[in-house]
Amino acid sequence: MMKRQMHLGLFILGTGSHVAGWRYPGAFDSFQDFAAIQEIGRSAERGKFDLIFMGDNLYADPAAHPSYTLRLEPMTMLSALAMTTSHIGLGATASTTYGDPWSTARAFASLDHISNGRAAWNAVTTSNAASGANFGRAHPDHSLRYEIAEEFVSTVKGLWDCWADDAIVKDRETGLYIDPAKVRTLDHDGPYFKVKGPLNIGRSPQGQPVVLQAGGSAPGQRLAARTADVVFSVVQDFDEAKAQYTSFKSLLPGFGRGADAVTMLPGVMPVVGRTDREAFDKLKTLQSFVSSTNALAMLSDRLGTDMSAYDLDGPVPDLGENDAYHAFAKVMLAKARRENMTLRDLYNLTAAARGHWVLAGSAETVADTLQYWFENSAADGFNVMPPYFPAGLDDFVDLVVPILQERGLFRADYEGTTLRDHLGLDRPERP
Ligand SMILES: Cc1cc2nc3c(=O)[nH]c(=O)nc-3n(C[C@H](O)[C@H](O)[C@H](O)COP(=O)(O)O)c2cc1C
Repeated sequence: MMKRQMHLGLFILGTGSHVAGWRYPGAFDSFQDFAAIQEIGRSAERGKFDLIFMGDNLYADPAAHPSYTLRLEPMTMLSALAMTTSHIGLGATASTTYGDPWSTARAFASLDHISNGRAAWNAVTTSNAASGANFGRAHPDHSLRYEIAEEFVSTVKGLWDCWADDAIVKDRETGLYIDPAKVRTLDHDGPYFKVKGPLNIGRSPQGQPVVLQAGGSAPGQRLAARTADVVFSVVQDFDEAKAQYTSFKSLLPGFGRGADAVTMLPGVMPVVGRTDREAFDKLKTLQSFVSSTNALAMLSDRLGTDMSAYDLDGPVPDLGENDAYHAFAKVMLAKARRENMTLRDLYNLTAAARGHWVLAGSAETVADTLQYWFENSAADGFNVMPPYFPAGLDDFVDLVVPILQERGLFRADYEGTTLRDHLGLDRPERP
């Protein structure tokens, strides 16, 4: 039997995941510079990553992380990136609260055609309330957002299945272009969406583009267990990652799915040095660039609460349950309580990796840790979030990936052509 292998996603923010990564000497300083994005895409493909992922939000706050505030529209960017890469999966966020199923299904089917089977959709419910003002709508509450999302994702998948794989016959002899028996309408008539279908694009190379999900709340986990192929999670330590992994995988049989049907990738910001010491020094340099303004904006975003009025050197206040960012708030507040942190400690941590796990060390240390998590039921792989580009990614690709490959934990080369091939997922049959 083939040894189980890790999956690696690359989370791209042009200025790096660290809130001040762009200040690191030699770092890219823009998420609007396509030449830089192309270089990142090439490095990720050299490292044989499964996929590249572009998040998205629908508002701009000049105090926020620079790559949250100024960014290219992800589908436009990924369509361009499809032309300068050949194997790597291309994932983007699209909102189930502010989008519509028809346009979303069409856009991702198009990207799947353009990229020959490499598209992935991160279905997010959009937690930041500021988005509503850009669409002339009140921001729905958390449970309503997930209710809408359940119907939205099912409708998108239904649209992707309207055309049989062999519906487009293009028979020059008879003049038959489309076999009407192999195309159906969807006729979806639900509480939130009414969509007749079919889509005006044929079934795409992957059958259905890959679905990603990153909600950490109970409704988020249920949506992921029912509909997703890949789940991104937020963790701060091994025990937490293992608990989340076990709990999420235990939901799958309830939806008629096996544990391998969904790939779980915790987020990690690796800071890699030639020695542990060098890595810690890099992290220290990065942290020296943090200012209270950018760090507090990020912390407030993650906790869903404006933190600017609190005493930075006081204890982290008890915020109770929070509707805006269940996953991040829960994980970060738990860590703050465990480690008796001040608000300043917590904002320093959040500034580093936006609430995700920071792993600093030599390439050996980083590879050992990832291997331990992977082999001890805490992860199926990782969503890698370099603190800055290009060197933060190149260190991982050139120093850590070869160790994982040598140990047989990661592919030496791509074996298939589609993202489903990389993830070891079957191409879905059309029901
Ligand atoms: C790796 C990762 C990527 C995410 N990307 C986005 C994004 O691009 N846009 C967005 O609005 N939310 C994004 N989120 C937030 C979640 O998808 C989710 O909306 C949020 O955690 C609130 O849902 P919850 O209450 O179920 O946790 C991301 C979360 C994670 C862990």
